[in-house]
Amino acid sequence: MCGIVGYVGSRDSIEVLLEGLARLEYRGYDSAGVAVVADGSIDMRKRGGKLSVLRESLDADVLPESGTGVGHTRWATHGGPTDENAHPHLGDDGKLALIHNGIIENFGELRAELESAGEAFESETDTEAAALMLGRIYRETGDLTLAMRRLVARLEGQFTLLATHADHPQLVVGADHNSPLLIGFGEGENFLGSDVNAFVKYTKKAEALGNNQIVTITPDSVNVTDFDGNVVTDNKTFEISWDAAASEKGGWSSFMAKEISEGPEAVENTVRSRIKDGLVRLDESEMFSADVLSQIDRIVIVACGTASYSAMVGKYAIETWTKLPVEVELAHEFRYREPAVTQNTLVISISQSGETMDTKMAVQYAKQLGARTLAICNTQGSTIPRESDAVLYLHAGPEVAVASTKAYLAQVVGQFLFGLHLAEVLGTMSDGDIREITDALLALPEQLRQTLETGKEVRELAHWMSDTRSVLFLGRHVGYPVALEGALKLKEISYIHAEGFAGGELKHGPIALIEPGQVVFVVVPSSRTQPTMHSKIVSNIQEIKARGARIIAVAEEGDAAVMPYADVVLRYGTTNPMLAGVLAVVPLHLFALELATAKGLDVDQPRNLAKSVTVE
Ligand code: AGP
Repeated sequence: MCGIVGYVGSRDSIEVLLEGLARLEYRGYDSAGVAVVADGSIDMRKRGGKLSVLRESLDADVLPESGTGVGHTRWATHGGPTDENAHPHLGDDGKLALIHNGIIENFGELRAELESAGEAFESETDTEAAALMLGRIYRETGDLTLAMRRLVARLEGQFTLLATHADHPQLVVGADHNSPLLIGFGEGENFLGSDVNAFVKYTKKAEALGNNQIVTITPDSVNVTDFDGNVVTDNKTFEISWDAAASEKGGWSSFMAKEISEGPEAVENTVRSRIKDGLVRLDESEMFSADVLSQIDRIVIVACGTASYSAMVGKYAIETWTKLPVEVELAHEFRYREPAVTQNTLVISISQSGETMDTKMAVQYAKQLGARTLAICNTQGSTIPRESDAVLYLHAGPEVAVASTKAYLAQVVGQFLFGLHLAEVLGTMSDGDIREITDALLALPEQLRQTLETGKEVRELAHWMSDTRSVLFLGRHVGYPVALEGALKLKEISYIHAEGFAGGELKHGPIALIEPGQVVFVVVPSSRTQPTMHSKIVSNIQEIKARGARIIAVAEEGDAAVMPYADVVLRYGTTNPMLAGVLAVVPLHLFALELATAKGLDVDQPRNLAKSVTVE
């Protein structure tokens, strides 16, 4: 959950590290620090609080110029977000600096061993045990790469580590175990980072380290070995497909606002190049063959948070189109039970970051159980696609705000593409039926643009509601996961109580929550294409209205039936019923953004959260 950056070259490393940390801050923003190697010593600065606090300190009191350094932005696990607990941590009497992402599970044991050997700890972190241990091993070997190899043999848990030493003014060593680390290749300079954001401003050429590998970078060389010291040459280098500007805020008030506005493009870029002559054509080099696909008899989709709600929307469509049973399971629940999975089960993982530990573990578990695995993922070079048998990349572009918005849209349409492809292979849909859906898919970007125009109305609503303490969300069919997503967004960034329910569940309990003035968002299915469900939800609306609720209906254009009961109606465009979950979510994303803004909260960096949850 932390962000890591390392640099060797001829630029001022502080500038490179701060630039990288600013782009990685979404991974953790409790505290930050940098260390550089200059004039035969390590100079370090670290501060609790956001990166801006570190910046101010560095502006007030500059560190010496240096071409070698490491930087870290933290999401605290062991020890609170204080100056002492911030990374880097020092070893070898202050001559070595180490930063870490992950958790060292046996740190208590290591700490006891180090303390009895006379080492003094300055922090409560697990990381400091690794730094002190690395320092001791280094003293025996004088070789930082070898010392790192010996250190990782002593560590349990999951980690990315970067270290630099005063004896080696142009060298950074990294190691990864179940935690991401990427190399950025430059001319006369090289970079390391938790993801490509760390160095995209300087180079587009990247490579992800495989699991259990060690990398040593100097300005002119990059050497990768496994934990046993065997040279690794088969990691795949790739070109970063977006520009540094794509992960900048531009003129927007927040990344979340910018990313909501990029929803139409995210859908367009994911869909357009994959539809040829009205049918879905997926890249064969990355996708399963038709032979393999025709053996699939069941699909399980694993994901967490917003990605899991996108999966619930996907399930309705894939099951309808392919006639295969589709289940959605939270990745962390799937991982710790005994699911009935065979070699004919396809386990699809959905992840924006491709690094969510729970989802990654579920994929590994599915493979162990013999299932085939497909990753639907937005981040190139990330771990989950690399560990899966096949991959469908989304093209939403980088998503920086902790609250996922445009990636949700891309995740849903990514599943639609796969569902239609599979339906064609299995022969469960005619070409004509597929074309009807692909036409609707191609129309989505423009419809999304129109839905975004509800922004002003939603802003007024949010201002009116800025003191509201609880909001309920109700939906049926694909509107149900949309309701769950609306509630999650509100919890995440507005810190108010919010719950999503299936409309049919109302009388089984949640209606007891309704009291006069309670605000309820109701996601209304189409009266044209889903008349029965539509009339059921109109009954739900009447029931809660009768008990004094204030109704905000999210309804299809032209739906007049909700008007007499709703206090406010927000509209989405007419589409296929399976696709409505793409359009109807937009007013809810906008509402969460506007309410948090009206409450004066930091929408991009909500408390206690980080963008990529890379620990279990
Ligand atoms: C979304 O707003 C959340 N921040 C969170 O639920 C997120 O969707 C979840 O952690 C999964 O992340 P992933 O898509 O990167 O795997």
